[in-house]
Amino acid sequence: MASYLNHHPFIFYLLIIYTISISISISISISTTSALFLPKALVLTVVKDPSTLQYTTKLIQRTPQPLSLDLGTPISWVICDNRYISSTYHPAYCGSPQCTLANSKLCRTCPPPAKPGCNNNTCTTTSLNNPFTNIIISPPGGTELATDIVRIPTTDGSNPGQLVTVPNHLFVCAPKSLLQGLAKGVSGVAGLGRSKISLPSQVSSYFRFPRKFTLCLPPLTESGVVFFGDVTYNFNPPGGAASANLSYTLLVANPFRPSDYFIGVQGIKVGGEDVPSVNKSKLSINSKGNGGTMISLSHPYTIMETSIYKAITTIFNEQLTTVVKRVNPVAPFQFCYDSNTIGFSPIGPMVQDIDLVLQSKEVKWTIAPLNSMVRMNDKAYCLGILDGGNNPSTSIIIGGFQIEDNLLQFDLDKSMIGFSSSLIYNRMRCSNFNFTSNVI
Ligand SMILES: *[C@@H]1O[C@H](CO)[C@@H](O)[C@H](O)[C@H]1NC(C)=O
Ligand SMILES: *[C@@H]1O[C@H](CO)[C@@H](O)[C@H](O)[C@H]1NC(C)=O
Ligand SMILES: *[C@@H]1O[C@H](CO)[C@@H](O)[C@H](O)[C@H]1NC(C)=O
Ligand SMILES: *[C@@H]1O[C@H](CO)[C@@H](O)[C@H](O)[C@H]1NC(C)=O
Repeated sequence: MASYLNHHPFIFYLLIIYTISISISISISISTTSALFLPKALVLTVVKDPSTLQYTTKLIQRTPQPLSLDLGTPISWVICDNRYISSTYHPAYCGSPQCTLANSKLCRTCPPPAKPGCNNNTCTTTSLNNPFTNIIISPPGGTELATDIVRIPTTDGSNPGQLVTVPNHLFVCAPKSLLQGLAKGVSGVAGLGRSKISLPSQVSSYFRFPRKFTLCLPPLTESGVVFFGDVTYNFNPPGGAASANLSYTLLVANPFRPSDYFIGVQGIKVGGEDVPSVNKSKLSINSKGNGGTMISLSHPYTIMETSIYKAITTIFNEQLTTVVKRVNPVAPFQFCYDSNTIGFSPIGPMVQDIDLVLQSKEVKWTIAPLNSMVRMNDKAYCLGILDGGNNPSTSIIIGGFQIEDNLLQFDLDKSMIGFSSSLIYNRMRCSNFNFTSNVI
């Protein structure tokens, strides 16, 4: 068997000599008489919706609000139709600090009759984007900025703990029409974007912990987690520090998409082999904001610009078909293989790794077989990468499937991402977080 088919689960970690150790000390003055309990971290459960493949969570805002998670969305939005009745709802009035924070300078007047979500003299956002459909709505008068109480479980890194309250969580009150294309039952989008008003930024600033959040996305039927703040994240079996051994790479700014997360991929390897035909200029972001590599939760699978897609899939297919049999495509994928000819190990199908080479040659993000091969039916496994066409605005969009059962830590203050590659190499999954609350 060709050497690229061998798994080297620990070699990957040995190669990481560029690990950056971060020590952050937060000094919080607790000498004040404030009764505010300052947790170190918070946790929300994440599940994957089978029909839209979106990752959803529940935020307790008045009642538990199921929300789809999105990385690039700068501020959370929730549908405020007649069902949203909350005595703790406060519209953001023009001139308030909230309007300033959201950089919203528009002041609205609502035509009679009075409607929920429309209050006079409140600041608004002119347009709102549904990241899953890319439908942008601009209702006359804009959409209202508001605050309400949200409640989130704390965590010590090992279990969920007591609930804490964020009294003035800023969000946008969206019209019902924007729900189209979201997972069934959800009432909006939790914005995890690179902005001052995203959910992670708001909870970090309120509880005064580092502006960091950590995603561990589950595959279908399992549970994953998103953590806010910074402690060691321990997964079962007890003592399994899932957040140990992260590698780090810098976030790259794209002035045209300021709240999205771009990373600097320099090259790609398939089965350890460089893919020389990848056009390097497409890997960087040009003066118009095009190109580069983005991480996205609004795309279920990785999408690559055509020339990159062709370069990668050609080599992948050539290497793999020396041992396994290719079968007919199964939509939406082109490269599918006969399951009976693929070997399986405890860490998934035995196919070659795909590596994203980051800033320095030593830092690689390995896309393990569990994150590259999608089981389509009893007979076929397909390479879960899609052709993005000739001129997409972003050359590589790393989609949700490719980051499942990986720990990804987004550090907004340091503009870095820490990543584990597949936790399966350490016999862990996101569902190994102990979801049993340790509050009696
Ligand atoms: C808002 O102000 C306008 C104009 O003064 C008025 O006609 C309308 O009834 C007010 N709407 C609400 C909801 O108070
Ligand atoms: C971290 O790396 C060390 C040394 O390679 C290894 O022994 C340990 O199992 C790893 N832990 C996790 C949780 O990945
Ligand atoms: C590489 O990409 C750039 C930018 O899209 C393009 O101008 C150039 O022609 C490409 N080079 C090759 C060899 O395809
Ligand atoms: C999960 O956490 C609970 C509460 O701390 C504990 O009782 C239980 O033993 C833990 N489960 C495992 C498998 O460690």
